[in-house]
Amino acid sequence: MGKLLRLDKYLSDMNIGSRSEIKSWIRKGRVCKNSLPCYKPEEKVRINDDEITFDGQRIIYEEFIYFILNKPAGVVSATEDKRDKTVIDLIETVKRKDLFPVGRLDKDTEGLLILTNDGDLAHRLLSPKKEVDKVYYAKINGRVTDGDVASFLSGISIGEDKPCLPAKLNILKSDEISEVNVTIYEGKYHQVKRMFEAVGKEVIYLKRISMGGLSLDPLLKPGDYRRLTIDELKNLNNIRLQKKE
Ligand code: URA
Repeated sequence: MGKLLRLDKYLSDMNIGSRSEIKSWIRKGRVCKNSLPCYKPEEKVRINDDEITFDGQRIIYEEFIYFILNKPAGVVSATEDKRDKTVIDLIETVKRKDLFPVGRLDKDTEGLLILTNDGDLAHRLLSPKKEVDKVYYAKINGRVTDGDVASFLSGISIGEDKPCLPAKLNILKSDEISEVNVTIYEGKYHQVKRMFEAVGKEVIYLKRISMGGLSLDPLLKPGDYRRLTIDELKNLNNIRLQKKE
């Protein structure tokens, strides 16, 4: 059976209007529950079971929402911040109050970020036990070497109790400014930057290009977002079933 919700919250979650507008519309009889006008904003409705209409139009409740965002630099991965613009501020359509970013990218890091209100999916994607892969494209000040590849693969120490899990370092260009792809299977604070620091190099640009097999859509410019497709969501859900608890 579907979850019970207040009628005004049901409609507010579906972005029909502000909470006060919704209350007034309900009191005026513009909202029906199972074909009968319902005048009480606090009336409980059961999602997926009760049929709710506004001015005769069916309003179907969507419990979970999933976006893929290309995070631009200069925006923080938080739901609110006193100083900086947040990734949630970038969402202009279907803005749910319970939306949050799945994990964090540093303020100066760009790229793939999932935004959702599905705590279960987020928990599983972020659980260290799941070892979900995250791939980053990075520009590095200095020549990245095969020795660095070996160090990353052997599990580099970044000053924590345990060394990092083995990470894959793929050199795209080795020069004064090198270009690499790095795959890590955990999400320690500033992890990629600290891994390069441990081999005496500095990350000068960082962008996440994939997470759990979900790739950043090349059509999304920094700051752009879209909903996850059904297939993308299915694949993410498969990960959470397959990987060990
Ligand atoms: N590693 C970092 O150093 N920063 C990020 O934003 C993500 C991974």
